[in-house]
Amino acid sequence: MTEDFRKNAHIFVDWMADYLENINDLPVKSQVNVGQILNQIETSPPQTPTSIEVIFADFKHIIMPGITHWQHPKFFAYFPSNSSTPSLLAEMLTATLGAQCMSWQTSPAAAELEERVMQWLAKMVGLPATFKGVIQGGASIATLCALLTAREKYTDFNSNQKGLSQNNNPLIVYCSTQTHSSALKAVRIAGIGDANLRFIQTDENYQLDVNKLQLQIQVDIEAGLQPLCIIAVLGSTSSGAVDPLWEITKLTRKYGIWLHVDAAYAGTALFLAEYKHLLKGIEYVDSFVFNPHKWMFTNFDCSAFFVKDINALTKTFSVLPEYLRTKEDDKVNNYRDWGIDLGRRFRALKLWFVIRYYGVEQLKTMIRHHIELANNLALKIKDHKHFEILEPISFNIICFRYINANITDLKLLNQCNKQLLENINKSGELYLTHTELSNKIYLRLVIAQTHVEAHHVDAAWIAIQKEVASKNYNNY
Ligand SMILES: Cc1ncc(COP(=O)(O)O)c(C=O)c1O
Repeated sequence: MTEDFRKNAHIFVDWMADYLENINDLPVKSQVNVGQILNQIETSPPQTPTSIEVIFADFKHIIMPGITHWQHPKFFAYFPSNSSTPSLLAEMLTATLGAQCMSWQTSPAAAELEERVMQWLAKMVGLPATFKGVIQGGASIATLCALLTAREKYTDFNSNQKGLSQNNNPLIVYCSTQTHSSALKAVRIAGIGDANLRFIQTDENYQLDVNKLQLQIQVDIEAGLQPLCIIAVLGSTSSGAVDPLWEITKLTRKYGIWLHVDAAYAGTALFLAEYKHLLKGIEYVDSFVFNPHKWMFTNFDCSAFFVKDINALTKTFSVLPEYLRTKEDDKVNNYRDWGIDLGRRFRALKLWFVIRYYGVEQLKTMIRHHIELANNLALKIKDHKHFEILEPISFNIICFRYINANITDLKLLNQCNKQLLENINKSGELYLTHTELSNKIYLRLVIAQTHVEAHHVDAAWIAIQKEVASKNYNNY
């Protein structure tokens, strides 16, 4: 059995290396139709064994056409989920060990490495030493954990004990209209309710308007409601907008509100000296999340969640049945108590590999390179008579839209931009997604792939211009 594994693993590694080498030749976005993959997979599970050779051949013929290539250098959609070879190698080891890291005892190395690499990340970002970190599956889970902890702390841990209905004053959560939808999901799951999430308007740069926030907090207090948490965004999903953290901390301190910072994407940019000013007030923040699985060359999933009051966090999540008790419990981090999952993958290993393989300085160089590529492309888009760009661009996120003096109706122009997006993506040359800001549809281009170079961006820009020139978008 091991001999077979060894032989197949070598074949797989060759395939993996070839895939990465030749990825540029593949269409970035999968071109299959709905149901095309499903229809090729037997409706009932096989009753007898199938050889790895046959399964692998089917993987290539059935599965691969339905894959969108997230590691393609011309993947510019959503936010990236960029990986790297050190991360991949670590994932191979993690899969081989198959360790379930719910407690210190179930793999001491996993718990202690997680503790150390989270300290490394905190230093890289510039978080005060009072923050302790834990790896979560995603920023959505981290934000939910932050909200649940805030809920418990502000209700004297009574919500867990007696249920949320015991709390007479509805708890209120605040975020800007640009905050990621995971905030709404967290508010729902935490039992706070959509009606108690206040979406605060933003200024013209899509940053939370602190005056409006203060007015809303006062209205809520006067109505007998209890402000619980503000979710500030550091790098919004649409345009990379950054809420004014320092100004927000003045309110959280004045009113005693939990402050959670969602830096899921842009947290990586905080490694760079030129972005450290965005952290002004961080010492007053209660929790902070950023995703190495977005822009730090670390395979999905890996979200770094930091909290100041670890006692409140573990008191919120700790449930201790007899079978989980160990004699080291009071001396170690049992990370199952730091979040929702009991079972946990050994995710710290890939972070350790990535940070050591590149070193912090090279990571910074790679991140700066992405930002520089984005700024260079932004200048070209700005110069094109048929494109309007959203300025200033944030980090490496470019929002732009097709414009045409003959199309004055916004609805038609929006449709036109959606058609342009669809045609660009159909080409397979590159992959973009869209967003809506001030009722306008924008194409969104994020340059953050591990191996993206200027020639990839140039080729993408040529493909976009070609599409605009070849179709008569005037007919809209
Ligand atoms: C700002 C922001 N927050 C949270 C999330 C959710 O992240 P995750 O997929 O890790 O839950 C995203 C996803 O893109 C995001 O952009």
